[in-house]
Amino acid sequence: MEESNPKRIRRVRYKGTHPKAFGEKYKELKPEQYKEDIEKVMEQGRTPAGMHRSICVKEIMEFLQIVPGQTGLDATLGYGGHSLEMIKCVLPGGKLYAIDVDPFELPRTRERMASMGYGPDVLVIRKMNFSGIDLIAIETGPLNFVLADLGVSSMQIDNPERGFSFKVEGPLDLRLNPKTGKSAALLLKSISKDDLEDIFRINSDEPYAELLASAIVTAISEGNEIATTTDLRDLISQTLAFLPADTRKEEIRKTCQRCFQALRIEVNDEFGVLDQFLHKLPEVLAPGGRVAILSFHSGEDRRVKKSFQYFFREGIYREVAPDPIRATAEECHTNPRARSAKFRWAIKA
Ligand SMILES: C[S@@+](CC[C@H](N)C(=O)[O-])C[C@H]1O[C@@H](n2cnc3c(N)ncnc32)[C@H](O)[C@@H]1O
Repeated sequence: MEESNPKRIRRVRYKGTHPKAFGEKYKELKPEQYKEDIEKVMEQGRTPAGMHRSICVKEIMEFLQIVPGQTGLDATLGYGGHSLEMIKCVLPGGKLYAIDVDPFELPRTRERMASMGYGPDVLVIRKMNFSGIDLIAIETGPLNFVLADLGVSSMQIDNPERGFSFKVEGPLDLRLNPKTGKSAALLLKSISKDDLEDIFRINSDEPYAELLASAIVTAISEGNEIATTTDLRDLISQTLAFLPADTRKEEIRKTCQRCFQALRIEVNDEFGVLDQFLHKLPEVLAPGGRVAILSFHSGEDRRVKKSFQYFFREGIYREVAPDPIRATAEECHTNPRARSAKFRWAIKA
């Protein structure tokens, strides 16, 4: 029987501002469908959740001088922002290869790029670590250009399940590829105080390295769990409770940032894989091939600079960046993450 007074069906409201789970944030998971919201957020100098804003695009593209018909590699695909610019330049006739270790974001980017008309005929995407650049080069042949935009993407930071941010509760994972290796939580379970102190000091110049390493290892030996991002953040806050009240909050924030970064570098062996990548680069570049690297950490930039200078002295690179190029003040204003970016380049002889 038909109801005489049917219930009004309410429009489903967007719950994205206060969702229970990240999976409910459909704006964040399909940001390209919410163009107006995205523009508003970007005007405020923020990165819309679920997206990544590519850095130093103009400077990188000016340097790479890509022309139609060339073959290149984006060694850190991420959201595909840089890839999109590069692919437009290789066409017609050229091809872009792109790699990333992230098994979750990579299929999303592949799908987004395919929906824009860049399928496998022009954009070949592989899930792999850039430490194996020599392996992809077997498929690509000599490369006219290579880009590496190091570190993590905003999508990875935004997703609490990945454990990259101390600001939201999530498992203390920090792996770019959670399908291999050890999470940060597991690492902490078995590490010695001295090794942890070294990780904090070497990877992030942490001034409270000894104090924090000791507090973490003691807490674990007493049976306390440090399984989540907030477990670690709370322990750091308690350990630094002695700091003067007026600077404490900010100092704890910066310490959390450094400690999370140090653990991320460790669980992903970020310095080790960067060294392998830099070592193999000359052999995969075509004569005159160009490489651009964006780094966000002094340890990374030092490695890039040393490697470029070494191969320059050996006559393998004919020219290298004399100094790092920084993002413009305007870009830093609209995208604060650009502030720490350092762009270096080299040209193969
Ligand atoms: C800063 S984001 C790149 C953003 C990208 N340029 C864009 O415009 O969207 C860095 C990306 O590099 C990936 N990555 C980091 N280390 C990697 C490695 N060793 N091998 C391959 N991908 C890596 C991360 O998973 C992340 O997606």
